[in-house]
This record gives sequence, structure tokens and C-alpha cells, in this order.
Amino acid sequence: MHFIEQKDIFRKSLLTWYHEEKREMPWRKTRDPYYIWVSEVMLQQTRVETVIPYYERFIKTYPTMEALADAEEEELLKMWEGLGYYSRARNLQTGVREVLEKYGGEVPATRKEISTLKGVGPYTAGAVLSIAYGVPEHAVDGNVMRVLSRICLIEEDIALPKTRKIFEEVVMDLIDQEDPSSFNQALMELGATICIPRPRCLLCPVREFCAGFQEGRQEELPIKTKKTKMQVIPLTAFALQNEEGKWLLRKRPDKGLLASMWEFPLIENKEGLKPAKLLNESMDLQVEDLQELLSFKHVFSHITWEMDSYYARIRKMDSPPEGFQFFSDDEVMQLPKSKPINMIWDATQDVMR
Ligand code: ADE
Repeated sequence: MHFIEQKDIFRKSLLTWYHEEKREMPWRKTRDPYYIWVSEVMLQQTRVETVIPYYERFIKTYPTMEALADAEEEELLKMWEGLGYYSRARNLQTGVREVLEKYGGEVPATRKEISTLKGVGPYTAGAVLSIAYGVPEHAVDGNVMRVLSRICLIEEDIALPKTRKIFEEVVMDLIDQEDPSSFNQALMELGATICIPRPRCLLCPVREFCAGFQEGRQEELPIKTKKTKMQVIPLTAFALQNEEGKWLLRKRPDKGLLASMWEFPLIENKEGLKPAKLLNESMDLQVEDLQELLSFKHVFSHITWEMDSYYARIRKMDSPPEGFQFFSDDEVMQLPKSKPINMIWDATQDVMR
């Protein structure tokens, strides 16, 4: 888009559509930078419908940055349970603590300062600046790259980190100076509802400005090379109950995948051993009443767990194995656990019923 008048009509068409068609979302009723920040962190890699109940509960529990800063890690992870990418929650808390300590409790309103906060990358920075403060800054995520790759027929590989900059420059050229909040959110909304992977161009308010559509190439865009190969790990999980009915769990390390979440014993089973033998060889545990629970795959961003799971009773022991603790049913339910562990927990409750 070269001509200034074209850009003006483009902005007008996009914003008019957005104001008429935008979906209601709880974070669209506020301009509080802390609430916008929470919503944008939750919305990374996660769909709007999934986020809404989490967002509502989160701001009810932590209505102020002070409340979040003071939260216990275990409670915070429990609040985030099921949303995935749990480091987002810890980084958000760290970032909020930085605002309280270094910025007198005011979320900074410049890209330079806000970008120093833990967990705040170029996208989150631009989203909070534009939506909460009305600053004309780019907020480019994967959806926005899809939209703009089509409108401007950009054939750069969006899998490459350096490509984002091209899109940021396009946004800075097109962005509405009067209402950058609506402009950025309109691009997101278009990417979520119309300019989807199989686009619905006949409904698009900016079709006449779309070079990809004019060339009939919208479905080829964006160009994204596939590179990350999935690592598949065969794992066997054991929901083990002692003679008092208590369950054996451990806390994962505080770094890496599912950091600090609780889990049943998980044993990598490369050789496809039978469960009793696996348990005996790797944990030196003897069990009774072994029962099969679930088998399923759980896909993380670059790792897939191929899970088998079993229930069993363990004989009386003086103390739990190194690194493990016993918990009652109620305690297990309070612990923050990953989705696959919760699926296995739910299966134990079905077996016991
Ligand atoms: N995805 C990321 N941020 C969003 C927002 N503010 N509104 C809708 N979808 C989004």
C-alpha cells in the first residue's frame, strides 16, 4: 500500500469493522495496564475462550499488583493449572514485582522500559502500550503476521526470528495514530475470525486492499518452514497408594518443562518393559493390585509424552522413596499438576468409584 489515501481508507475500513463486529471480552472493558498485561500473557499460545474464565478468576484473586506479588508459588501455579506454559505465570509475577520495586507501582509506558520487565517481549510490550496507554506501537504475533503477510503479500519465512521486524515496520507504517489500541486489536480480531489459516475472504472488510487476495494466493500465505521435530518420549506413570490410602508424588525441578509442578512417579520406558518390572527396576518398589489406567499422548511445544499409566498399592514402608512425599486425596487435589497428571488422577477416581 503506497498511497496515503489508500492507507487512510484501509484504516477506516478495518476500524469500522472492528467497532461493529468485535467480540466482547472481559479485558476489553478495562484500560488498567496490569489487567491488560495479565490478559496478553494468558492469550499467548492460548485461545480466547480458554482464557476468559482463567482471567476472571485471576483478577478476582489478585486484583492488584501487590496481591500478585505476594502470592505463593504453589497457589499461583494452581491458578494457572490447565493453561499450560507455566513459566508465563512465574515470569508475570516476577515482572509485577519489578514494577513495584523499580517503577513505584506504575507499569512503564515506554517500549524501552516495559521491555526490561521479566516475560515482556516485543509483542507483550506493544500490546500493553497500545491497549492500556494508547501509544502507537506495534504488537506483532503469529496471527498478525498471517494477516499482514496476505494484505502486503510478504513472502518472508515467518519461522525465522528476523522476519518479525519486517512486520513491525509495516504496522508502524499503517497504525492508526488516534486509536492504536483498536487498530492492533482489529488486526488480532481479523486474524482470529476471518483471516484464519483457511481464510474467509468474502467476509473480509479489507479484501480490496489485500494483495494476497488479488493474486489469489491467500492460502499460500504466510510462508512458514517447518523445522522443529517433535521428540517423543515413552513414559509410564504410576498412581501409587499406600496402606493408609495416601498417594505418592514428587515436585518437578524448578527449571525446565513443567517446572515446580507435582507428579506421580514417571518412568521413561524406552525398552517397553512391563509395568511391574519397570517399577521394580527403576524404583525398587514392590506393588499389589496393579491395574491399567489410561494410555494417551500429550503434546507440549516440542516434546510429546506417550503415556501409559497404572494404579497400584504399595506395601507399608518406613518412609517414602527419596524425593517423594505421601498426600491424602484432598492434598493431591490442592497441588498444582499438569494436564496429563490430572487426567491420570481423574482416572484413579473413576477406578475407585
Ligand atoms: N489475542 C491477543 N491479544 C488479544 C486481544 N487483546 N484481543 C483478542 N485477542 C487477542
